[in-house]
Amino acid sequence: PLVSMTDMLNKALKGKYAVGQYNINNLEWTQAILGAAEAEKSPVILGVSEGAARHMGGFTTVVKMVEGLLYDMKITVPVAIHLDHGSSFDKCKEAIDAGFSSVMIDGSHHPIDENIEMTKKVVEYAHAKGVSVEAEVGTVGGQEDDVIGGIMYAKLDECIRIVKETGIDTLAPALGSVHGPYLGEPNLGFKEMEEIRDATNIPMVLHGGTGIPEADIKKSISLGTSKINVNTENQIVFAKTVREVLAEKPDAYDPRTFIVPGREAIKQTVIGKMREFGSSNQA
Ligand code: G3H
Ligand code: ZN
Repeated sequence: PLVSMTDMLNKALKGKYAVGQYNINNLEWTQAILGAAEAEKSPVILGVSEGAARHMGGFTTVVKMVEGLLYDMKITVPVAIHLDHGSSFDKCKEAIDAGFSSVMIDGSHHPIDENIEMTKKVVEYAHAKGVSVEAEVGTVGGQEDDVIGGIMYAKLDECIRIVKETGIDTLAPALGSVHGPYLGEPNLGFKEMEEIRDATNIPMVLHGGTGIPEADIKKSISLGTSKINVNTENQIVFAKTVREVLAEKPDAYDPRTFIVPGREAIKQTVIGKMREFGSSNQA
């Protein structure tokens, strides 16, 4: 069933595992991720960036597609449709009005007072409709859609303020992670992560899940990270698989010939993440 992230993440924080947010791009991506979640008996968050929503036709198309699949695939595990890196109150409202069960308001590129102000407005609107809200402090490195930035670590006092003043359900403190592949090993701020957990006591989100070594994933979870976002890794395995199939069958033209193996590759990748994050058998 379609639910917000609130219960999912509070349970994950208590149970010391993390729920994955896997970004979707189209029908097959969504089938792969929902199929993995059902097979693993795992709660799951479908991440939808503004760009991906545009690509799929709009927020309403996304919601109707997901609802259709939940029904046709007989999905029983908890599923959230979550706006990833929402850029404004208006975009969050649009997603909520279309039926999204969760939103991220990413005010991290604004001064903290503005970030808090826009986050507060989103929380008021979202919570009245049972929709969960994620906010971000500091800057995740790398690039995602229209959002580009260098790494900037979240400041503890700003994390405390945004949690206390807005009532968000979950906080993404940027602590050295990067969108897209890492150049070398990530350097995550575990000490800061622990301090933020102790001071705020709400589930934390780790962006830029692609390319983080398993030991760092495990450590983050032990320090209060309850949601991990993965996008690029699925894009890489999909593209690689499609390329291989097309190289093997250069005359293929029925899209299903190469999209189906690509979809299966995403499903297997997501199953691997669910086991690594410990969310398998937690639905
Ligand atoms: O918001 C989405 C994620 O932070 C994805 O990061 O593409 O590096 O896995 P990634
Ligand atoms: Zn992100």
